[in-house]
Amino acid sequence: MNPLGFKYNNGELCCDEIPISKIVNNHKTPLYIYSSNNLISSYKKLKEEVNNLDVDILFALKSNSTIGIVKLLAEQGAGADIVSGGELKIAQASKIQPSKIVFSGVGKTEEEINHCIASKIKQFNVESQSELDKIISIANNLNTKVPVSLRINPDIEVDTHKKIATGSNSTKFGLPIDQAISLYQRINIEKNIKPMGLAIHIGSQIFNNLEFKTAYQSLLRVANNLREKGCKVPNLDLGGGVGVNYENFEVDFTGFGKTIYEIFKGQGYSLSIEPGRCLVANSGILIAKTIYLKRNNKKNFIIVDAAMNDFIRPTLYEANHKIALVKSSSVEKEKFDIVGPICETGDYFTKDIILPTPNENDLIVIFSVGAYGSVMSSNYNSRPPASEVMIQNQKIQLLKKSQSIEEKIKSEISHLIG
Ligand code: LLP
Repeated sequence: MNPLGFKYNNGELCCDEIPISKIVNNHKTPLYIYSSNNLISSYKKLKEEVNNLDVDILFALKSNSTIGIVKLLAEQGAGADIVSGGELKIAQASKIQPSKIVFSGVGKTEEEINHCIASKIKQFNVESQSELDKIISIANNLNTKVPVSLRINPDIEVDTHKKIATGSNSTKFGLPIDQAISLYQRINIEKNIKPMGLAIHIGSQIFNNLEFKTAYQSLLRVANNLREKGCKVPNLDLGGGVGVNYENFEVDFTGFGKTIYEIFKGQGYSLSIEPGRCLVANSGILIAKTIYLKRNNKKNFIIVDAAMNDFIRPTLYEANHKIALVKSSSVEKEKFDIVGPICETGDYFTKDIILPTPNENDLIVIFSVGAYGSVMSSNYNSRPPASEVMIQNQKIQLLKKSQSIEEKIKSEISHLIG
């Protein structure tokens, strides 16, 4: 079974019923293609599962900040979890109301803080005492009340890739619980700070709901403790992290919703969540064209026109995304490594996959690249980034045009050529 919105009709993969070859006729490969049906359906599924409590869905823009994607989620009611001044601008361009924007991250600059205060965002999720001091001093200078939430670090280990686990105190994230408790009592009485509550985010690609449970129980204990001390703690921000199974495309929205409900029902907190991956991963595919086949005494390679600069997850996190040919074929199967043209051994999408032998120019598809795909792309090897399209109302809509290398050259030397 493929993700919703991507199925084979007459032997060819389609996105929302449009054959991929038709899309690629108008837009060059490598190409990101999104299914709006899949995106809307993922949002609705998550919404449904958390609907029995007062939960705001704040889309983590870091997972996909293509405006066409963010705008579609905003139209469904999503707010935004941002981590930079750039993401603030993307959220605003995507018409997300400031009252639904939360600013997370350990390194907010003074300039970013000022922009967010001026934009009247919902809250800052503060991650250190130094950051809090900075915000208090800015707030006092402006004589404006700034909404602040403190991100706690519950100091737990989670079973995910080590580069994306954030719940332990050996990482840079959040405040140790005792520090958070004393700082919260301070913001509760600070003249120009509006105490908004607490936040938590223990990592990404989490499949075991018990890990969320442990973290949320710890968050609730701290929040209740602060209330007992007389503090105002209106909101709890539960972060993101829901895993996407890249082999069978499953996402356990139900288990996540249930975990939240069991812990927070009747506790009297408004809640927010910051999902990224689970909303967008399965909505996107990356299409690449076969340039050459290459064989040696150890391996067969399919060399395609997409590379690690377009999609870095396989080499950065050893991620296994499902890969197939766009047109099914009855040709004999062989074992291949699928690689890009970049001059690094790490430039691969998969190893030892068994596929029908493709011809030059045949298209391959990499599934579930909607999250942490195009956002993590680069110009490495002076390769222009892939364009992005979305199928919406049976139409192929261009979301992002690839920046040409000529444009890049111009941006680098325009001051020299005047
Ligand atoms: N909230 C905060 C504070 C976060 O740091 C993150 C992700 C999220 C929410 C969204 O988490 P999600 O629901 O997407 O798991 N590039 C990596 C993932 C990095 C995640 C960083 N933080 C990857 O490709 O796996």
